[in-house]
Amino acid sequence: MIGRDILGIEDLSREDIDTILETAERMQEIGNREVKKVPTLRGRTVINLFFEPSTRTQTSFEIAGKRLAADVVNFSVSGSSVSKRETLLDTAKTLDAMDPDAVVVRHKVAGVPHRLAKVLKAPVINAGDGAHEHPSQALLDMLTVREQKGRIEGLTITIIGDIAHSRVARSNIYGFKKLGAEVRVAGPPTMLPADVEKSLGVKAYTNLAEAIEGADVVMALRIQMERLEGACFPSVREYAATFGLDRAKLRYAKEDAIVMHPGPVNRGVELSHDLADDRPSVILDQVRNGVALRMALLYLVAGRGGH
Ligand code: NCD
Repeated sequence: MIGRDILGIEDLSREDIDTILETAERMQEIGNREVKKVPTLRGRTVINLFFEPSTRTQTSFEIAGKRLAADVVNFSVSGSSVSKRETLLDTAKTLDAMDPDAVVVRHKVAGVPHRLAKVLKAPVINAGDGAHEHPSQALLDMLTVREQKGRIEGLTITIIGDIAHSRVARSNIYGFKKLGAEVRVAGPPTMLPADVEKSLGVKAYTNLAEAIEGADVVMALRIQMERLEGACFPSVREYAATFGLDRAKLRYAKEDAIVMHPGPVNRGVELSHDLADDRPSVILDQVRNGVALRMALLYLVAGRGGH
């Protein structure tokens, strides 16, 4: 995968996903060492180009690069020439002229990483583009499910919330389906894309109990306040009552079901406080696995292969 852009799960084959997850499983061990660093990407440069706020994803790519001994440059938009109205392509070409070995991009507009990938020499990793895809998040979610359940094939995975505005939902639907899971989505009708069953090949529910009946994995999504044009639901309180996950509603799922959330959590909205903190939720395992997964991505696209 050296030099390859990672723009979305839609473009990855099942074999690509397996390669990435297996590489990430080998990277996990490095995070348990006393000295959490290997020289694999020494002398290589990774640029984090985040045009949208991020806590987990940006820090995680930075730590991942550093654990592999790469030089990681965080380009933050405020304080850069972007605030002097430099165009996106000029900014990107300027950074490219400094010869990075990978560029990680997040932008609020869908398709920006794809556009940059056409002009940059370095491989581009999409760290979230609008409501389109967030491949590294879906891959770390797949890694976490594999770790917790030992497999993905044959599992039932229910994703709850703002499916229409969620890049996490889209990438996870592509990924879990490619690996042989049954994916269901649930939310108010205004948050389910009109043709979701046909276009994404999932079963859609507006009744939460039916959606999580017998599920192995229940994934709650953040309500994307910043992406909602007008209200999609009468009130946050009503959303929490109908679609917010708590232990009572979780009883419909399998007894050993796990609860996931990509973060950041609106506590008391998508998840009850206790579920946000305690088992069966695996939110911090997801965060921990995010580092190993991003190490795998950087190694696979920016490493020297067999050298
Ligand atoms: C997600 C994102 O930014 O797409 N967060 C993340 O990367 N962990 C989900 C979200 O913002 O709701």
